[in-house]
Amino acid sequence: MASSGKEKFGGKAAYILALAGSAIGLGNVWRFPYMVGEHGGAAFIIVYVICAFLISLPIFLSEAVIGKTTGLGPYEAMNSLAPKSPWKGLGILAVVSSFIILSFYCVVGGWAVDYLCRSFIGGIGVTTRDGASALFGSVAGSVCEPLVAHAAFLLLTAVIIYLGVQKGIELFSKVSIPLLFVMMVIVTIYSVRLPGAEEGVRYLLKPDFSKIDASAVASALGQSFFSMSLGVGMVLTYTSYSRNANVVEAGAWTAVFDTLFAILAGFAVMPAVFAGGLVPEAGPSLVFEALPYVFGQMAVHTPIFSRIVTILFFMSILLAALSSSISLLETCVNHLMERRNYRRGRATLLFVLLAWALGVLCSLSFGPFGGIRIFGQTIFGFCDLLTSNYLMTLGALAFAIFVGWRMDKLEIQSLTGKFFHFMIKWIVPLAIIAIFVSNLIL
Ligand code: TRP
Repeated sequence: MASSGKEKFGGKAAYILALAGSAIGLGNVWRFPYMVGEHGGAAFIIVYVICAFLISLPIFLSEAVIGKTTGLGPYEAMNSLAPKSPWKGLGILAVVSSFIILSFYCVVGGWAVDYLCRSFIGGIGVTTRDGASALFGSVAGSVCEPLVAHAAFLLLTAVIIYLGVQKGIELFSKVSIPLLFVMMVIVTIYSVRLPGAEEGVRYLLKPDFSKIDASAVASALGQSFFSMSLGVGMVLTYTSYSRNANVVEAGAWTAVFDTLFAILAGFAVMPAVFAGGLVPEAGPSLVFEALPYVFGQMAVHTPIFSRIVTILFFMSILLAALSSSISLLETCVNHLMERRNYRRGRATLLFVLLAWALGVLCSLSFGPFGGIRIFGQTIFGFCDLLTSNYLMTLGALAFAIFVGWRMDKLEIQSLTGKFFHFMIKWIVPLAIIAIFVSNLIL
């Protein structure tokens, strides 16, 4: 389908904020802070920033130039650049990966809805570690409650996408991203002032260069990669809505916002974890068990204050998750609109129903379906592992190879500059293969 008449972002700011929204998500809050602590504090942050700008940014650019030159989503773009070739498969891979990530991501989004509702209605009210674990067990592992919350989160995602690129994604990003930063700053101020928080600050800041080994570099690469939402055609789709944009500038801003938010979230989360005398770990328990416990303990001394901070914290998690989930759904919806001429409403409904069905299976895998194993993983774990470790990496590798080796060199250089063209062609594929191999070994 021709790209004329397609929806567009209202301007540069909208495009960049929407990209930042997709990048900023749960990965920033529950994986980044932990990795920083594990791999040498400030030393890891330096390695991470280098990876974000030298490897992730060129991958971002390979997707962006395809979106910019064609004005189409992943499938139709590959179809028009390399007709009748297997490269179409890359378009399908992108849409399928987006769909799978969407399905399990919305389950976690549902938990955020649940905790936010609880903190409004009477507070979360856990004051012991066991209480916090039991609460998370029932929020994630029962049947009705998580399914209702999951459906609510998916519905919110669907409404924003149904409203379209400008009235939905753009408006939501312009409001939610600034709000997200403000709320996280307030939580951070509260967190670093808790008694015993200094140890958490030290955990994040103490530079220990002796911990920077191959596995730290591979973790930094993998994390920046996941965090910038690469390899699933999201950057490509959003750029097709903003074809005049300067892609290098947009990519650099996305990396900056994403990294700043990750560091900010680190200072919101880790000092509180240490103040509560807990041991940091990566994953859902950091956000959904440790923090409610610490805030719950504080509520004994400062009930109103701790209540407000809890609400702000879960509100920012919810907004961060939503700004990522909409980008995933949009990649899918745009595909059906381009490929089959579906109206936005119909395409949204179809994908939401499919994502709901897979999401229900993922959600129940924390409860009654916990015994079902795929390659040793629960359904949720399998979807996560398949996409984060394999499909996203494969997608990113293929986009970089296509742009570096199949597209016109001078045209790409005019969009990205010579340096990034070189990175896309040589360094990125080698780096991705390195991460891939290290993921297999670790
Ligand atoms: N970047 C998101 C986060 O940090 C998660 C994510 C991974 C994502 N891949 C994506 C979001 C693709 C949108 C599109 O949580």
